[in-house]
Parts: sequence; structure tokens; C-alpha cells
Amino acid sequence: MASQHEARNGLAGLRILLGVSGGIAAYKACELVRRLRDAGAEVRVVLTANAARFVTPLTFQALSGQPVRSGLWDEAAEAAMGHLELAHWAQHIVIAPASADVIARLAHGFATDLLTTLCLASEAPLAIAPAMNLRMWAHAATQANVAVLRSRGAVFLGPAEGRMAEPESGPGRLLEPHDIVAGLTALYGPKRLAGKRVLVSAGPTYEDIDPVRFIGNRSSGRMGFAVAQAAAEQGANVQLVAGPVHLTTPPGVARVDVRSAREMREAVMARAEGSDIYIGAAAVGDFRPHEIAPHKLKKNGGALTLSLDENPDILAGVAALARRPFVVGFAAETQNIETYARAKLERKKLDLIAANRVGEGHGFDACENEILLISRDGIERFARADKLALARQLVARIAEKAQAKNEGRGTGSESRRKLVPVRARTRTR
Ligand code: C5P
Repeated sequence: MASQHEARNGLAGLRILLGVSGGIAAYKACELVRRLRDAGAEVRVVLTANAARFVTPLTFQALSGQPVRSGLWDEAAEAAMGHLELAHWAQHIVIAPASADVIARLAHGFATDLLTTLCLASEAPLAIAPAMNLRMWAHAATQANVAVLRSRGAVFLGPAEGRMAEPESGPGRLLEPHDIVAGLTALYGPKRLAGKRVLVSAGPTYEDIDPVRFIGNRSSGRMGFAVAQAAAEQGANVQLVAGPVHLTTPPGVARVDVRSAREMREAVMARAEGSDIYIGAAAVGDFRPHEIAPHKLKKNGGALTLSLDENPDILAGVAALARRPFVVGFAAETQNIETYARAKLERKKLDLIAANRVGEGHGFDACENEILLISRDGIERFARADKLALARQLVARIAEKAQAKNEGRGTGSESRRKLVPVRARTRTR
């Protein structure tokens, strides 16, 4: 996915055409213009007719410092810079917010207004930040249009999950402007994992009791999928071993689906020695029923006792390999996070462990997370942020530490220091 984005150091000097379509989230595009310019990009804004009902062209003109266009038939604007010239000017097109309608028109190659005409006439890479009602996003028609655009190389940034304009919650919200900028920067930033093979395991495992019941857990897989996406953005060749989850595969990531811990172990072990980095973000079930009943178990008026066997520890298995990759584990704890995580780091012979609090709205099944990254000689705090933003920071540090270890500099740049103060690496929101 990164191939169409020329290698450069971030967004400085990049000529970005920002398309704003109609929707209440259009107001957030104002802040996006400011942030893109802060990152050094040159921004020109094109509004759809509906977007101009929410925010005036004048606002965008003031923020971008450039004339704003919204119609194909504006003679004065055409005389200043023809629309084909504008299409050629753009080095990247970003549409934020992108409505279901714009996404549909782009997927089908319509050129019914200035924005869609520019998209068709430009060879610049396209990034789309959707914003719409959650049912519109989930609709099979929208999802099919998204798949078509992705297959042509468009990058989707979001949508985020959360509260919407209506009293509903779910995927469909426009990503926050700073997250859109982070996503674009990841496309154009230095590729810290170019040429590296990264193996990630994510999601829960299900252990069957009988043909209809299983023992599972509440892991959504979001953190592991975000880590896989962040590693792919950094240029890595990423393989993702996923337990049963309802998530779409991040672009550029090769996914293998598994169900039980033993299936996950098999899939991971088959790929571990060929990997440079293994990140075990899965919530692997510790126990499985001693045997799977061939038929649905029936009530018999009394208690049922299940006999459980312990599952193999995948992470420890990878760390014990003769040709082991750089091994990163996750620790989900409800208390004594640091102490328990450190014990796990030692016991499983890991290079790094990312510890987070679960329960009471933390970690599992949540969109946001907060992490302590612990190595043998240091600890670093990543403040609360959404999982993709956190994954990007985490992957950047993992890449740094894996390289340091490769070069014989211990587990990280601070390896010779005895104690590293806990410090916040992100803003708290
Ligand atoms: O010991 P605990 O399950 O809390 O350790 C969590 C870490 O160990 C996670 O990275 C998880 O993916 C990994 N793990 C594993 N195999 C198991 C259990 C946990 O790889 N059977």
C-alpha cells in the first residue's frame, strides 16, 4: 500500500488537495486544514455543494490561505487555475469527511461535481476518512464500494467508533483530525520496518466444549489488529494470526484465521523462525476442555464438571526457539500491573512486554487503551489514546529496540541506564 506514496520525510512540502463532503463532521475539516499546514503541507480545499451548507468556503479560505473551490462552472476560479491543473497540482488527495454518497460515486467513477472530477483526473494517491451514520457505513452497498476503492489502492483512515450526532454509538465517526494527520504521516514518514517480517497474533481463542458451546474471552482483537496495521505502515511484511474476531484485515496484512489456542500455536510456530519480530497480542485461553463432547451436552438434573487441560504457552514457545525473533508480549492485568508484567517478562524470556489494565472499561472490548512498555532495564508509559494511535507509538519503539538488540546494544537505547523515569509520550485526552 505504501508503494504509491513516494518516500519522503513526513508531510512537509506535500501538496494536499482536501475534499470536504457534506455532513456534520465537515466542521472538523477546519482543524484538519490547520494541522496539515502545521505539519508543513500545502493545502487546497474543494467543497462539495452539501459541505458548503455546513461550513462556508470563506472559513476554509482563511485557514488554508488559498482560494477554495466548490463548483465546476465557476469561471473566475477556472481562469485562475483550471480544474485539470488542480488535479495535476495535487500530490495527494484526502477526502475528510467522506460521505457514503461520495464514496459510492468514487467507487463507480462518476464525475458529477468538481471533487469527483478531480479524483478521476488525478493520479495522486487517495486517502478517505469516512463519516456517516453507523448503519450507512455497515450497509453492504457502502462496504462493497469501500472494497472497490481499497482494491484500487485508496487508503481508508477510520471511521472511528463512538458517539455519533444521533444518540447512537458505533463505527462511522470521522477520525479526529490529529489521527488523520498521523495516518497520512505514517504513509509518508520514514519506514522503520522496511524489509522486516513481523508476526502478530491477535484476538481471543475459543475452546470447544461440544459442537455448540465453547470457552472464550472478551478480547476484541482491536489492539493486535492495530499493531499489525501500524507495522504494515512502517513497511514491514506482516502476517497476522487471528482468533475469532469481527474485524477487517488491515491493508497490506496477510491474515490466517484460527480458533483454538493449539491452532494458534501451530500457525505461529510455523512462521516464528522466519520472522524478525513476534508480537503476541492475543488473549490466549489458558485452559481447554480435556475432551470435546461429540454431541451437545444435555442437562441431567445435576451439576456438570468440566475437566480442563492447560494450553501450551505460545509466547514462551517462540522465545525458546533457537532462532528466535525479537519477542514482545502483552499483559492484561486488573492489579499490580508492573509487578506481574515484569514477572511475565522474566518467566517467558521476552524482550519487551506491553502491560495494560483490563476490567472496569479498560483494555478488552474498549476502543482506547493505555500501556506500560517494560523491558529488563526500563519502563515507559504510553498515555491513554485510541488503540491505533497507541499501536503506532508502540511499533515505533519496538522497531527501535529490536534494531538496538540486533546491533548488540541490549534491548533498547536506554539499556545502559539503570532506571528510566516513567514519562508520558502522548498527550492525555
Ligand atoms: O500469562 P498471560 O496469559 O497473562 O500472558 C499474556 C501474554 O502471553 C500475551 O502476550 C499472550 O498472547 C501470551 N500467551 C501465549 N500463550 C498462552 C497464554 C498467553 O502466547 N497460552
